[in-house]
Amino acid sequence: MIIIKSPREIEAIHQAGLVVAKVFQELDAFLRPGVSTQDVNDLVERVMAENGARSAEKGYCGYPAAACVSVNEQLVHGIPSPKRILHDGDIVSVDLVAEKNGFMGDACRTYVIGIAGERQKKLVEATEECFWNAMKLVKPGVHLGDVGHEIELTAKKHGYTVARDYTGHGIGTSMHEDPYIPNYGTPGSGPILREGMTICIEPMLLEGRSDLRVLKDGWTAVAKDGKLTCHYENTLVVTSSGYRILTMLDEEKEERGLTI
Ligand code: MF3
Ligand code: CO
Repeated sequence: MIIIKSPREIEAIHQAGLVVAKVFQELDAFLRPGVSTQDVNDLVERVMAENGARSAEKGYCGYPAAACVSVNEQLVHGIPSPKRILHDGDIVSVDLVAEKNGFMGDACRTYVIGIAGERQKKLVEATEECFWNAMKLVKPGVHLGDVGHEIELTAKKHGYTVARDYTGHGIGTSMHEDPYIPNYGTPGSGPILREGMTICIEPMLLEGRSDLRVLKDGWTAVAKDGKLTCHYENTLVVTSSGYRILTMLDEEKEERGLTI
């Protein structure tokens, strides 16, 4: 069942989303070679607490940490560890869900550590491009098959594949609500977007084949072929004329030329 949100609920999701955006702002300045994925987790917990929020990931289906921090071939759900040190040229996806006053905001950024290689930069840029191309389609009346198709098309254009085992989703008082939003689709098929839906669009791209394997920790999903992977996500609300991003600070929206 797809839940249409009231303006008050949308504002509450936005407030949770802004906490996630603040964490990313701090991570921008913090991430560098030598930092551990546990350090990232600790920063996430601190900044969320400072902003009246908590990590909805911690304890979710038994997930043991406050953040998902996935390095290189790890696509999603990387468990932070003090032993995992970030090195020059690594790409690290930080996927976060903040809960504030009972509502959730969910977003993911992939950062390049230190000096970026062309290979890493190209994958990160393509993954973000998938998100922006798909986002531009969002408005009432559009089928989710169109959104997923656009993500897959953009990934293919750059020579990448998309994950098929994980999807975007609706969000609200729960982290995952209907509708589910695959990173592939058939135009004109699937659920139809309506004003007041709050959704997470999250392209997950792979350099090589899309086959995944979950590590013995029960969570970390990695590319079977060991090649690089990348993830980018924002929470959006469908408005009467299009969309509004709920997990980005106004200054970042301005920098990117977004008027809303
Ligand atoms: N943030 C993820 C998503 O995009 C889910 C995190 S799974 C958890 O849906 F177990 F870490 F919570
Ligand atoms: Co999500």
